[in-house]
Amino acid sequence: MSEGNDDRLVSSGVENNDEEKIEMSLRPQFLNQYIGQDDIKNELQIYIKAAKQREESLDHVLLYGPPGLGKTTLAMVIANEMEVHIRTTSGPAIDKPGDLLSILNELQPGDVLFIDEIHRLPKIVEEMLYSAMEDFYVDIIVGQGPGAHPVHFPLPPFTLIGATTQAGALSAPLRDRFGIVEHMNYYQTKDLNNIVKRTADIFNISISDDAAYEVALRSRGTPRIANRLLKRIRDFAQVSDKSEVDLEIVQYALNLLKVDNLGLDDTDIKLLKTMIEFYNGGPVGLNTLAANIGEETDTIAEMYEPYLMQIGLIKRTARGRMVTAKGYEHLGYEFPTTKD
Ligand SMILES: Nc1ncnc2c1ncn2[C@@H]1O[C@H](COP(=O)(O)OP(=O)(O)OP(=O)(O)O)[C@@H](O)[C@H]1O
Ligand SMILES: [Mg+2]
Repeated sequence: MSEGNDDRLVSSGVENNDEEKIEMSLRPQFLNQYIGQDDIKNELQIYIKAAKQREESLDHVLLYGPPGLGKTTLAMVIANEMEVHIRTTSGPAIDKPGDLLSILNELQPGDVLFIDEIHRLPKIVEEMLYSAMEDFYVDIIVGQGPGAHPVHFPLPPFTLIGATTQAGALSAPLRDRFGIVEHMNYYQTKDLNNIVKRTADIFNISISDDAAYEVALRSRGTPRIANRLLKRIRDFAQVSDKSEVDLEIVQYALNLLKVDNLGLDDTDIKLLKTMIEFYNGGPVGLNTLAANIGEETDTIAEMYEPYLMQIGLIKRTARGRMVTAKGYEHLGYEFPTTKD
């Protein structure tokens, strides 16, 4: 994340304690409360049931997909369904093998270890994870110099749940050790609509059907964004004298928040405009583009581009990113006839 952008709607992770509390209150606890992602839920339901019947730990699970789609939430749901504890950490937080060992050592049989941003594990820690995942042991070197000797360290069976926004950044040996790999995709509007209604319920606000649907439409297929928008809309509703959040309030609030009718924000628009005005619609490389609009390459690759691609405003070619005819149209530019 680039600095000074904490207030933006399109961002990853949790930014402060307050937000963390709100996120916790919004997190579904069990599969039947988890809205959308039906294919993934159906699969998991079976694997969880089978593992419980065999009284075994669940196979390791890899969850990948754009930020804010509910990977962390799903990991917690899985632990709840398995009726085990969950220990949460992240790739960059585990500096050295010793850190990993002490985490593994504290696990009870069957527990879930959740590693967020697993693609950012240091290599030496990742390698230690291989035997831990496969056969539930680690070999470590104890002592230094001539007295150093290997120690075989057995572990309780556990379930590793890894989450990443970049499946491609995971090494093959690590990826291959996950028995269950789930690709999370942007939510359908009808599912987001239900999430908006659920959140409104928890926030104790009443919202009309068309207003909820509008929020869903403008949330980039992302529950975290839907929840954030709703939080701000709540403020607008509070200072108006209406007893219910209606379409008018939503439109007014979202326009002020500069969220357009496809859910695009300033950065999306700047990105598309730059491509059109300076690069003739592309192809243009990701790094060039990032430098041009003053964002980090990763931020664009993980948070902006996937959604713009999903809704067909840009496309990826061998020579770089290009704005599509639909992208030109959305910004009100004429699509050059020289393009395909
Ligand atoms: N299926 C869902 N039903 C209801 N609410 C959801 C669902 N998925 C996610 N949410 C809500 O969206 C928010 C973001 O979810 P979460 O933190 O799990 O996303 P994430 O994929 O882990 O994001 P990141 O990649 O940034 O870590 C949470 O507050 C959660 O309550
Ligand atoms: Mg998360």
